[in-house]
Amino acid sequence: METSLLSIDQLADAAAIIAAGGTVAFPTETVYGLGADASNATAISKIFLAKGRPSDNPLIVHVADMTGVLRFAKEITPIAKTLMDAFWPGPLTLVMPRGDSVADELCAGLSTVAIRMPKHPVALELILRAGVPLVAPSANRSGRPSATTWEAVHEDLSGRVDAIVCGDPTEFGLESTVIDITQSPPCVLRHGAISLNSIQSLVTDVVSVEELDSREQVRKRKSPGTRHRHYQPKARVLIANSPSYGTSHRDEESVADGTSKSVAEDPSGIHASRAWIGLSSPSRSEDWRIIKVCESPEDYARVLFSFFREMDRRGMELIVCQRVPDTGIGRALMDRIRRASAVE
Ligand code: TXA
Ligand code: MG
Repeated sequence: METSLLSIDQLADAAAIIAAGGTVAFPTETVYGLGADASNATAISKIFLAKGRPSDNPLIVHVADMTGVLRFAKEITPIAKTLMDAFWPGPLTLVMPRGDSVADELCAGLSTVAIRMPKHPVALELILRAGVPLVAPSANRSGRPSATTWEAVHEDLSGRVDAIVCGDPTEFGLESTVIDITQSPPCVLRHGAISLNSIQSLVTDVVSVEELDSREQVRKRKSPGTRHRHYQPKARVLIANSPSYGTSHRDEESVADGTSKSVAEDPSGIHASRAWIGLSSPSRSEDWRIIKVCESPEDYARVLFSFFREMDRRGMELIVCQRVPDTGIGRALMDRIRRASAVE
């Protein structure tokens, strides 16, 4: 299949492809999405095929108005209304009771459906022109870092999708926050661009899925997607607790499965293929081939995935990510870094 590259002035063409059951990648404020008609089961199956996505991982429906929500969700509860008023359009995805006519493929057979209203003007206009809500997972091959530029979409999906709308690099660089409001207490399943704190300031007793797991007080809930490999560049990813990483064997790295790896196990052993990203420089800069110092946690979040991809293109074998405090955007950022560093 030939993939057309469209400009943001060619949304009529993009909408026509969607209406014909095709697939179009487009920018949102979080990451690029791979869109298809959310009411067309055949189009939905093309998305899973293009990404190599496991069929048990449901998709997010992207809407431009409340009519779109009511086509897919059974009801809008008071909590849903509160969150929509506060954060829509924007990077918050609500898991809601599923409406009767929603395709099984979209929800991976669950009784719930995930919905968000993006705030990116190109995304909103594309949905309106298509005249139907769009399913849109992140526009990357399954398991890879999400695409934050159209070039990254092209790298992963060229020849596998009908078109790419070539907009600017995305504003947040990490995906939306996913919150399940179908059960009590409401539960953040995926940390993202909207922080847990800002949600908790509006809806009391919202918890995060890690808290539920550790309290074991409510039956475990999971975002199905979190079972799968995610965000992984080809290079090995490790987490540095401090800028003195690599100078001391005390510098243990904790990875997502709870085990620890010491710096002595650095698989490359050669400085020529080591890259660093963080909020400050590592203490021995001569040990690093590439050093990327970000201005703020927000900046770090915005560039992380494109940095991973660039390091792969440059053949780096090891990427070390400096830890940031687990608050605000830092929580989502550390979640992505931990998953990128997970060893199976
Ligand atoms: O920012 C975003 O959300 C981007 C842009 C393109 O909008 N989209 C995105 O989609 O990240 P995707 O497919 O890569 O991630 C969707 C996440 C997965 O973790 C999936 O398991 C979860 O949402 N999800 C979808 N439907 C769900 C449901 N009914 N219940 C629980 N989790 C659900
Ligand atoms: Mg994704």
